Amino acid sequence: LADERLTDADLLADPVGKVVAVGGTRHASIPLPADLFPDRANSGGIDLQDAPTLADVAGTIAAHRLSPAPADAGDVAGAIARAQAAFPAWSARPVGDRAAVLERLADLLERDRLPLMAICVGEARKTIPDALAEVREAVDFCRYYAVRARADLADVELPGPTGERNVLRHGGRGVWATIAPWNFPLAIFLGQTVAALVAGNSVVAKPAPQTPRIAEAAVALAHEAGVPADVLQLVPGGPDVGAALTADPRVAGVAFTGSTATAKRIAASLLADDDRPIVPLIAETGGINAMIVDSTALPEQVVADVVTSAFRSAGQRCSALRLLLLQEEIADRTLEMLAGAMDTLVVGDPADPRTDVGPVIDQTAYDRLMEHREQSRAQWIKTVAAPADGLFVPPTAIRLGSVDALTREWFGPLLHVATWAAGTLPQTIERVNAKGFGLTMGLHSRIARNADVLEAHARAGNLYVNRSMIGAIVGSQPFGGEGLSGTGPKAGGPHYLPRFAAERVTSTDT
Ligand code: NAD
Ligand code: ALA
Repeated sequence: LADERLTDADLLADPVGKVVAVGGTRHASIPLPADLFPDRANSGGIDLQDAPTLADVAGTIAAHRLSPAPADAGDVAGAIARAQAAFPAWSARPVGDRAAVLERLADLLERDRLPLMAICVGEARKTIPDALAEVREAVDFCRYYAVRARADLADVELPGPTGERNVLRHGGRGVWATIAPWNFPLAIFLGQTVAALVAGNSVVAKPAPQTPRIAEAAVALAHEAGVPADVLQLVPGGPDVGAALTADPRVAGVAFTGSTATAKRIAASLLADDDRPIVPLIAETGGINAMIVDSTALPEQVVADVVTSAFRSAGQRCSALRLLLLQEEIADRTLEMLAGAMDTLVVGDPADPRTDVGPVIDQTAYDRLMEHREQSRAQWIKTVAAPADGLFVPPTAIRLGSVDALTREWFGPLLHVATWAAGTLPQTIERVNAKGFGLTMGLHSRIARNADVLEAHARAGNLYVNRSMIGAIVGSQPFGGEGLSGTGPKAGGPHYLPRFAAERVTSTDT
């Protein structure tokens, strides 16, 4: 399969995230714009002559060549004022109209998939498979929330005694602030934003400072799809801009995805002013995600799923595997096989379709990860070759003395490994729970009862049995954690939209 070439039509027809597996067995033939990747446009089997939409791609990239200027406090205040003024008309539109706008946006995202992917690769350093998955997830959020909105935000007739009519209605709450991380700069940025919009709110959206161009492109498409300009506004910038946004008492709700520390800061700022209304905060944060492997697991499958879960996206997924827990009896054999699999990883330029692991997002992340990796040198089980020039953190497996030794999220391709003793599965799960995070947890076992033990004991939002732990699919695997990992409701799930709405019941004596 190594030379198999997929057409653009194949890419669209294929299910989300299934086209290219880490390990480089299948590669997509995706044209890249020559002006963004002058050195790479014709490498790796990519043939620009075959690119039917190259002209569109070049035009869109050119429009986003310069990052939008960061907002200041005055820009934030102005955006909130305009969003507040635009709110009543948007909220008054039938929910079906707003859902139709999301569906148009999904069509536009599909139309512009190539330039959007190219911006993701160029700005967020996503590999090509990850950039493709990013656009697909954004499309999925739009289509899924459109369908759910029609069902979940419609009026509901409630029972009552004869002569009384009770109706539950959903309306917008006002201006929502949506604040996004850089690691899903299109899918999560847009997912939380369209959820707020379809529920009848206006939105002031702040992307991560590392990824403003993809956010700008997404907002431009939302406007083209029919969201009025003042109903959705972008305020690019860093923590200061985010803090100014959440501190403004006119903001009626906050949807945040990012680190646990930032979520706590935002929660505190929402409560700082005694006169401010109590507003909802939806926070999706990080995790110390463990995969537990017992002696009955299929070793080849374990190794493939560990490599995907820990190293795909350079480990820069909140869902990524951080702590591999091997039953003592199989630890040596599994680690030997894992080392062999890690040797096949291609670390390098994300614009090259042969790459499995690209660079990390910025110098700060690189320095932090490399320092930890260096300090752990004596415990290395395996590390792999990576280019010295650039922000490439070599994927590395690090041995720990115990399950409890890992106490923070390392947001990169560093996998920590410990062992557990036969007969202690419930206790091992409880020791993972005790870290306080609860995002993803995995189990590899061929004993069905052990999956029941996982379900009974694990305090984590997404459990994965005998498979990888990343790439939750909208509508199938609603995603989100508990404890230090977030507030819920789960993104891409049936309970997400109502949290963005104000519920009002009218009781009429007929
Ligand atoms: P971060 O918390 O540093 O930043 C996230 C966003 O918050 C950025 O837009 C940032 O500018 C903004 N921000 C920072 N300080 C702020 C403040 N005081 N007030 C308001 N906004 C502020 O996180 P990051 O480094 O961009 O993203 C990585 C983190 O996100 C990891 O911990 C990862 O696990 C988590 N994450 C979670 C999920 C999930 O669904 N649970 C998904 C993706 C990423
Ligand atoms: N939803 C993303 C995943 O599952 C974070 O990997």
